[in-house]
Amino acid sequence: MKAIKLLSLFCMLLFAACDPFESAKQREIILDLPEIPFSYNVSGTSDHLPTLGRVLFYDPRLSINNSVSCASCHKQTLAFSDDAAFSRGFENRITSRNSMPIQNIISNLFAGIAIDHNLLIDSMATDSVKIDVNDPTVGAYLPGVFVSPDFFVQPTKLFWDGRENDLAIMVTRPIMNHIEMGISDLDILAMKLSSIKEYNTLFINAFGNGEITKEKISTGLSAFLLSIRSNQSKFDKSLNLAINNSFNINDGSSQLSAIEELGRQLFFDKFNCNSCHESNGFADIGLDANPKDLGMSSITGNTTQAGMFKIPSLRNVQLTGPYMHDGRFKTLEEVLQHYSHGISNSKNLDDRLRVNGKAKQMNMTDAEVKAIVSFLNTLTDYEMITDPKLSNPFKVK
Ligand code: HEC
Ligand code: HEC
Repeated sequence: MKAIKLLSLFCMLLFAACDPFESAKQREIILDLPEIPFSYNVSGTSDHLPTLGRVLFYDPRLSINNSVSCASCHKQTLAFSDDAAFSRGFENRITSRNSMPIQNIISNLFAGIAIDHNLLIDSMATDSVKIDVNDPTVGAYLPGVFVSPDFFVQPTKLFWDGRENDLAIMVTRPIMNHIEMGISDLDILAMKLSSIKEYNTLFINAFGNGEITKEKISTGLSAFLLSIRSNQSKFDKSLNLAINNSFNINDGSSQLSAIEELGRQLFFDKFNCNSCHESNGFADIGLDANPKDLGMSSITGNTTQAGMFKIPSLRNVQLTGPYMHDGRFKTLEEVLQHYSHGISNSKNLDDRLRVNGKAKQMNMTDAEVKAIVSFLNTLTDYEMITDPKLSNPFKVK
């Protein structure tokens, strides 16, 4: 009897601990938004739309029991990734893959194809400077490495296995996911939000009327995701320095140090890491001889794609550990040990990691590992991870 009581007390405590909204209820939570919206520069929309998306992104009321928001698994300080190998959804349910950073997502969502622009009526008047998504100079993967224009024509594939390429649909998936946020019917979510006062104003500002629909929820979230951009890492700045040759702005802080520069050369020249990490796409890097998680082929059914996963951006990689689709490596050093002498000759191992039919062994020295890690650390964008316009707008009073 006593054991049961103790157990139920334990469960209650556990539940309270996992339910930030619940425990914060006693204190007042206020929505702290600037009077004039921040400037988000999302092409084709006003700044009111990403502002709405920001609130939705951080609001745990988008989950079935008000416990989990997008930000629970996509934390700004971690480049919108998570530090757990497998993130926790509502009721502490565990996801089956490692959360991914969100940054520099490119979609033609607001290019006039996917949405009805009449939806965005007068709010367009406050438009800020537009970024043209067809501009090949908008770097997406490695900073400063220009992505091919094809990249924009083909919508970017999302998730580790590339199962979704429509951003507007993608953003609704975690809400409905039975592990992540658990709301099976988005119309019910729309009704739920309709009863929350702040949303009325936010939807009016973004769309001209306060009616809340699932399409508008998804458009708002998408606009916020598209505004999460990273281009202010030390490496970006060092490239700008090189391109502009403007020594007057060189205070020394944006010049790569000797070890970082060595790492850069190893990454680009000796080990050819850029042959993959500069482009989007999918690859099997021989993590397992027989991959348990089939990756791409779990979606396509094509066995030649078993073990292939999305080539992740290495921007902010210092912050996005643990690494790989299953979070198996805790540190960048462990990742490099894999490339150095841990690659398995799996059936679909990428040709770029094969020599004479065998798995490549890069045999890195300790000094090389150190230099590459130093270089990867120059890809951290401290401005993005502290940018107020991307931060949690809910404040506890
Ligand atoms: C419980 C944790 C959790 C929650 C909550 C969550 N995500 Fe995720 N997210 C993940 C995981 C895990 C993945 C990788 C899943 C996979 O590939 O199978 C992911 C992947 C993504 C990606 C793909 C990024 C890429 O480069 O392909 C985006 C975008 C994303 N989530 C946005 C969102 C949004 C928007 C919300 C809120 C509506 C949200 N997530 C809520 C865990 C979560
Ligand atoms: C054949 C293409 C390819 C090559 C070459 C390659 N990578 Fe990768 N890399 C990938 C893929 C694909 C993943 C994700 C694999 C997974 O999770 O199953 C990855 C993952 C990573 C990660 C973990 C990122 C994260 O967010 O989890 C790091 C760090 C990394 N690679 C660095 C390097 C370095 C350094 C080199 C050169 C020594 C290199 N890669 C060469 C394709 C490649």
